[in-house]
Amino acid sequence: MRKAIFWKLAVLGWSLLIFPLAAPLTAAAPATIRLPPPDRSGGVRLMQAMQERQSSRDFAEGGLSVQQLSDLLWAAGGINRPEEGKSTVPIMTPGSDLIIHALLPDGLYLYDPVDNALLLRQAGDHRALAAGPQAFAAQAPLNVILSSGQKNDTAAGVIVGHSSQNIYLYCASAGLKAVTRMTMDRQGLRDLLKLPEGQRPLLILTVGLKP
Ligand SMILES: Cc1cc2nc3c(=O)[nH]c(=O)nc-3n(C[C@H](O)[C@H](O)[C@H](O)COP(=O)(O)O)c2cc1C
Repeated sequence: MRKAIFWKLAVLGWSLLIFPLAAPLTAAAPATIRLPPPDRSGGVRLMQAMQERQSSRDFAEGGLSVQQLSDLLWAAGGINRPEEGKSTVPIMTPGSDLIIHALLPDGLYLYDPVDNALLLRQAGDHRALAAGPQAFAAQAPLNVILSSGQKNDTAAGVIVGHSSQNIYLYCASAGLKAVTRMTMDRQGLRDLLKLPEGQRPLLILTVGLKP
């Protein structure tokens, strides 16, 4: 429970605007997107998802549903044991080991795994910062930015690596396409994210629909 409170303190500053659950993610940036509960029963078998995991950089037009976004973020680092505040990803320090942002076409959002919500941090289209020289990422409907405050570089890499693989497997299971990337406009993204001292963006999962 104390860890859950810690998470909440880490994501202060959101308003109560409710985003319609079934709506596509195309409306002007709401202050809070309340995600539906993740669907823990869906998807293909784990072995099949591993068989189909691959990197893709070609996406069809269109965005993910809010349900897909919820499922993907839960896989990336949601809470799977609420009584302990523990995550789908092995982390040592909740709130700073793994910070997840969703960069949508209309804004940058912080994922709050406790309340299962997205909290608007910066309205507007900032996808070019996630893309850097890889232009396709500036057109993608979703860029998931994985940051860590872990001082130990190995631990930080392991943590975002677990999250990245969970996203890959979810995408393989849900028929979505993804690629993990270290390429980004690092300084521009740091300025946008306004992370606390010591936290840094490490990986971006660029996600889209199957062509
Ligand atoms: C740590 C890491 C960083 C990566 N960075 C990029 C990147 O910046 N841009 C990119 O297009 N792909 C990037 N990739 C994806 C690799 O190119 C891809 O995983 C590799 O070609 C193997 O293909 P597969 O994932 O389909 O098996 C990265 C992969 C890893 C593991």
